[in-house]
Amino acid sequence: IDISKLRASTGGLITLDRGFKNTGSCESAVTFLDGEKGILRYRGYAIEELAENASFLEVAYLLIFGELPNTTQLDKFYADIKEESHVDEEMKKILDGFPKSAHPMGVVSSLTNALIAFNPSSVNVDSEEDMYNAIIKILAKFPVLCAWALRKRTGQPLDYGDSSLSYVDNVLKMMFKKANQDYKVNPVVSSALNKLLILHADHEQNCSASTVRIVGSSHAGLFASISAGISALWGPLHGGANQAVIEMLEGIKEDGGDTKKYMAKAKDKNDSFRLMGFGHRVYKNFDPRAKIIKKSADDVLGSLGIEDPVLDIAKGLEKEALEDQYFVDRKLYPNVDFYSGIIYRALGIPTDMFTVMFALGRLPGWIAQWREMRLQKEPIGRPRQVYTGKTHRPFVEANKR
Ligand code: ACO
Repeated sequence: IDISKLRASTGGLITLDRGFKNTGSCESAVTFLDGEKGILRYRGYAIEELAENASFLEVAYLLIFGELPNTTQLDKFYADIKEESHVDEEMKKILDGFPKSAHPMGVVSSLTNALIAFNPSSVNVDSEEDMYNAIIKILAKFPVLCAWALRKRTGQPLDYGDSSLSYVDNVLKMMFKKANQDYKVNPVVSSALNKLLILHADHEQNCSASTVRIVGSSHAGLFASISAGISALWGPLHGGANQAVIEMLEGIKEDGGDTKKYMAKAKDKNDSFRLMGFGHRVYKNFDPRAKIIKKSADDVLGSLGIEDPVLDIAKGLEKEALEDQYFVDRKLYPNVDFYSGIIYRALGIPTDMFTVMFALGRLPGWIAQWREMRLQKEPIGRPRQVYTGKTHRPFVEANKR
């Protein structure tokens, strides 16, 4: 059956699938995911191999253009990005308008949309060249916006970093270099961030990628689509879970570390509490990203000489969940966000910046999904509904209601 013709061929039948639990929205060649077997591949390459061997920029290129770049391609890609890393000075006034307490996700999403005003040519992408230029611009400017959001929050003057550094090291420097002080990139921190960004880089048709595709399907432009994706990612059921996990673990610690009490709350259907960082729409055995991140958390904290008591609480919760019938029956396992916050924290990143770091990692995935959608000339995204409201009724004057 051609589902797009179902209504016409049946005289009005449509499908209803709340939350799109079993509905494909597109054909895609970007990311392969087998939720039963716990397999995740970008363009055919296993996530484990990429996280171990690749740079984030290589993975970005792979996701967006379909192949790992050779040295010449990678050098050109990065040179083009560096050329575009300037953000219009007027953008700083917009940043200044936010209160210091503003959540960085709101700031970054707004600034991404505001970029359009200073880069209007990024909207109408009629050729692959136009698309390439828009892609380079956002890859170049987005890390600057993320760093600005952090620096505003921490009261540091804004910085453009250092183009002699790698993409990831430059992100670190833009974020953490203190005024009038040198900044030396710690290789442990750099390699941990590189891995985290790769692990977050794409995840097929999740909530934010679907948002990017659907906004982009109206030809609203790449930056507007990315800005919408950032908003979708912000929620605690999606990317915002990394912040929610650390807040939950901190709360458990402050409450005396009684994990059993919180396990019971998570299972209580009259309690809205959920074990944040647990469960996934697609993974039903394990999340391969969580496996890598858990090991990485041990390595990074060990190398940096940090002991974080919430890591023990997290491991305790995972152990209990694995033996608990409620979690076993519902196939609830730690997801990518369960251990990532512990690493971000060890790297010195404030809690409400965690989801911004996720967005920075997810940017190439959003771009790849958007580009694929535009190249495939997908029609505008427009779901149907099953109407459950009133049938026709006559209008009643205000004084007779
Ligand atoms: N804690 C306790 N119970 C849970 C949890 C959890 N974290 N997650 C799911 N459940 C239960 C539900 O209550 C439901 O139980 P029921 O069948 O008795 O009603 C069952 O498991 C199925 O859950 P759904 O919410 O229907 O599953 P869905 O696929 O819609 O949601 C989601 C997936 C949003 C990830 C969910 O598991 C959740 O809220 N997890 C916590 C938030 C989180 O970690 N989000 C990050 C996901 S990864 C990412 O987006 C980057």
